[in-house]
This record gives sequence, structure tokens and C-alpha cells, in this order.
Amino acid sequence: MMKNKKLLMIPGPTPVARSIQDQMARETVAFGDPEFVGDFKGLIGDLKDLWKSSGEVFVVAGTGTMAMEMAIANSMKSKDRVLIISHGYFGDRYTEICERKGLKVDVLKSEWGQVVPVKEIEEKLEKNDYQAVTVTHVDTATGVCAPVEEIGKLMAKYPNTLYIVDGVCATAGEFENMEEMNIDLLLTGSQKAFGVAPGIAIVWANSKAMDRRKTLGTIPEYYIDFEKWLPIMHDPSKYFATPAINMIWALKEAVAIIKEEGMKNRYQRHQRNARGLQKALEVLGFSLLAEKECRAVTLSNVIYPDGVKDADFRKILSEEGVMVAGGLGDYAGKMFRLGHMGNIDTHDMVSVLAAIERTLDRIGYPVEFGSSVGTYLSAVKEEK
Ligand SMILES: Cc1ncc(COP(=O)(O)O)c(C=O)c1O
Repeated sequence: MMKNKKLLMIPGPTPVARSIQDQMARETVAFGDPEFVGDFKGLIGDLKDLWKSSGEVFVVAGTGTMAMEMAIANSMKSKDRVLIISHGYFGDRYTEICERKGLKVDVLKSEWGQVVPVKEIEEKLEKNDYQAVTVTHVDTATGVCAPVEEIGKLMAKYPNTLYIVDGVCATAGEFENMEEMNIDLLLTGSQKAFGVAPGIAIVWANSKAMDRRKTLGTIPEYYIDFEKWLPIMHDPSKYFATPAINMIWALKEAVAIIKEEGMKNRYQRHQRNARGLQKALEVLGFSLLAEKECRAVTLSNVIYPDGVKDADFRKILSEEGVMVAGGLGDYAGKMFRLGHMGNIDTHDMVSVLAAIERTLDRIGYPVEFGSSVGTYLSAVKEEK
């Protein structure tokens, strides 16, 4: 039987472009190979330039969770005080990481689908001395995008507090600029909006964050210590722990794609696709968990209308060629999560919507064929 092509539309890993796959399939060389050393050096320079870091960037084998931990391990010591802004599951993960580190943790939480008002963050900052504030740029459990720039403006008034942004579900999709947004530590993984397979963690640390690292002396963590990696990030021919050579090449290709597209254009493509898709899903009878003012452009968390069962919907949608993820927490069974970040084009978006229409039809839910596809195409045309 002929099978549908599978489109991987979960919120990471995302589809990996052919040219990126080709880099992973290359014959592995020594980490001291001059060509590889040059490639790694070029990648580090590009990552700093593109995200406007005044300090350093660390490209290390691992996942987003490791990058979260790396940012904390290198900026705070036990008993330091941190303010965590949580818009869902991954904000809560930061609480767990910080509690294990022995930090004094204050948490500001929103209802799922909403953001913590910046005013509340300001009140907390006025009352207490924090060594750091963490914010999840896009919480993958809720599809909420935090007002990173607005919080950054506030952070400028607190020079002794580091601003840490978890960009795992945002970086290379949502717009980010460390200088303009006053971000001190930004972190992500390769498998989301970079469109690379899982396996690489990236942490940017500006000069303020690097100064903080110096004040900590020897830290208990070893593999994720900035000071261990810094000599390698300055001269990748040196050894600390074996770099993930083929993954670094793959990331380099992903960055070449980003440079060619341009950071602003890339964000605008994500925005056009997201807004068009979100409108199209509403036409079909779905609703979105995130409120309109704080909706991500990298993924959509989509609530089912009455009469559509999660298990049936996702099984049939998969048969129709599209993989999506289930809801988390209280939204398990009530919602699906649809990633649309990375190297996704109009072909992919149209295919996803058409597959959703076919799925609804097979379930017996009333659908007018073409209605969502038409809505998406008109919305995208209008925005251009
Ligand atoms: C916002 C956010 N932070 C952190 C993580 C953890 O990343 P990883 O699964 O690569 O460890 C994720 C994963 O989905 C995420 O979406």
C-alpha cells in the first residue's frame, strides 16, 4: 500500500532539511582536523553575531534541559535568590532545577494560556534582591510567548540581577536579540527552530554573565562548567570533552540557512505562518489555549471542539501523514500541540491543514473541504 509522507509537526524535533541531514551523514573526522576546527570557529562567531552577544557562546553536546542547568550552574551558588516566571510546564522545570541547586526560589505563575503581568515582576524585583530572573520565551506546554523585550526593559533597572531566557522553543523562530532585549543568558537546543536533530545545547552568555561566573570560583558541576569549555570555544582545536562533530556541522548548515534568510525575515515567516494557521484552525472549530496577545509563532496549542476525541484525532491524523503531540497536564486529552517552527514552508502548512480536514471528515465531524486551506492562504497573502 502506498504510504503518506510523514510530516513531523510536533514541537520538536522538527523536520530536518536535506542539506542539514547531509552534514550528519558525512564521514566523521578528528576534532583536531583543521577543516572541522575552522567550521566550528565560524559557527561560534556566527552564533554570537546573529544573537548579538557581547560575551561568549557555548555549543555543547546535550539537550535543552542541560542548557537550562548550565545557565544556572554558571551564574548562581547555593542560597542565592532567583525569581522564576512560569507560564507552564517548562517554567516549572526551572523551579525544580533551581531547588535542587539549593537556591531560594520565588515563583510567579500564570494560568495556562496567559502571561504573568510585567507589573507583578516589577513588584517582586522592588521587594527582593535577586541574583537572577528566569523566563521561558515560549512555553511548549501552553503555546504562550512571554513579553521578553518588555521584561528586558525592566531588567535594565536591575544591574545586579541576571536575565536568563529559556529559548528552547523560541530561538531561531521568535525574534531575539540579546543586546536590544538586555538578555544576559540565552539558551536553546538544536532540535527546535534551528531544524537540526536533537543533540546540541547552545548557551549564550554576555559579558555581565561571564563576570558573574568569575565570582563563583570552582563550581560543583564539571561537564557544564563554562570555564572548562571557554578555552575550546576560543580555540576549538583544544580538547576538553569530545565535541559532537557531525552535529556541529549540521548546526553550521542550519545557521547558514538562517543567515541566508535573515533573522527578521525568518521571524516574519514564522509569524505569517502561525497567524494564518491559527486563523484557519479557528475556522474549523478549534480554539487556541494561548490568549491572542501572547500567542507564540513557533507552535500552537489547539483545543478540540466537542465531538472530537484526542486519541482518534491524533491516530487518524498520523495515518493522514502528520504527527502532532498531545496536551500536557490538565490539557491531556483536550488539546493537541502543533509545532510550526524551523525550516517549514507553505507546502508543509497547506499539507498540514489539508490533513486535518481529511481527519475531521473521517471522524465524522462536519468540515468543508478547503475552508482552512483557503483561510490560511488568504491570511498569508494579506500579511506579505
Ligand atoms: C521551553 C522548553 N524548555 C526546555 C525544554 C527541554 O529541552 P530538552 O527536551 O531538549 O531537554 C523544552 C523541551 O521541549 C522546552 O520546550
